[in-house]
Amino acid sequence: MTDMQQRRSRRVQLAVPGSSEKMLSKAAQSDADHVFLDLEDAVAPKEKVAARDKIVNALNTLDWTGKVRCVRINDLGTQWAYEDVIAIMEGAHRNLDTIMLPKARSASDVQFVATLLHQIELKLGVERKIGIEVLIEEVEGMMNVEEIAFSTPRLEAMIFGVGDYSASQGIDPAILSGTSGYPGDPWHYGRWKIAIAARAAGVDAIDGPFPDFRNIELFETQCREGLQLGFSGKWAIHPAQIAPALRVYTPDQKTVDRARRMVKLYEEAYEQGLGAVSMDGEMVDAATVRMVQEILRRADAAGM
Ligand code: COA
Ligand code: MG
Repeated sequence: MTDMQQRRSRRVQLAVPGSSEKMLSKAAQSDADHVFLDLEDAVAPKEKVAARDKIVNALNTLDWTGKVRCVRINDLGTQWAYEDVIAIMEGAHRNLDTIMLPKARSASDVQFVATLLHQIELKLGVERKIGIEVLIEEVEGMMNVEEIAFSTPRLEAMIFGVGDYSASQGIDPAILSGTSGYPGDPWHYGRWKIAIAARAAGVDAIDGPFPDFRNIELFETQCREGLQLGFSGKWAIHPAQIAPALRVYTPDQKTVDRARRMVKLYEEAYEQGLGAVSMDGEMVDAATVRMVQEILRRADAAGM
């Protein structure tokens, strides 16, 4: 694994339509630790240009304390993408942390955005580097996820965009409603592959949207499954999904205390020349301790 890129808390990434001043304002007041203000699919084509100003204004005037501030631009196959980056950077770089690129297909797609950011930062004299997050939601992006993961040091997160991905692969929409009779989880391979590449590159793997925002139970199940695979968080498309995602992606105090006790015990044993020790009737060794480091990283990020 390479050194970790800049790590930010993104247990829940709230999708906010950039064309809605009301939702932008609600997002700033929410408990989400990451918000992405959207210029892509949540914004109708005739609203795209006006939404840039609304987002710039929201970033510059609302209080986003405690949140990662991200803007999702349009994909590189559209007429809007380059001007999205320019408008958002020129208007609000002081109040922006990352740019999210949808439908990334290759490392060069991500490098295009990185180069554009570099030029704008030079022009504006911005010393802080703006990060990049990418959506893996095209079959080409899935094929190239390893090279995308290492495309630029600016990359901070890779998100699995399950809806577009399913369309891109031609997956039967009946699978979404659970009526297809398909015997397994059709997205397991994709999530697994993204998680491996993200870990290897030291970036966050994030799970994408779950549209049925009234079904909190199933949403929570999906959060737990993502967590188990090593994901760092999940999207929320509605405020009702924020609290459950935070609950799942924040380790509980008992687990954190046990992990800390384990590390302490192991370090004391190590000092005495032992490689393995017993705790509560279970063996603790270097690998066991390594497994709980992830819990401790999440706990530290959550200020526990
Ligand atoms: N961000 C901020 N506020 C939101 C929100 C969001 N994503 N989704 C809903 N809200 C607000 C609503 O404006 C409403 O505010 P109010 O109580 O002051 O009227 C409140 O939360 C409750 O919303 P509700 O009435 O239950 O839903 P809705 O019918 O207004 O909106 C959606 C439902 C799906 C249209 C809306 O949640 C949405 O646009 N989500 C994001 C879609 C998106 O970004 N898609 C692209 C990425 S997948
Ligand atoms: Mg998409």
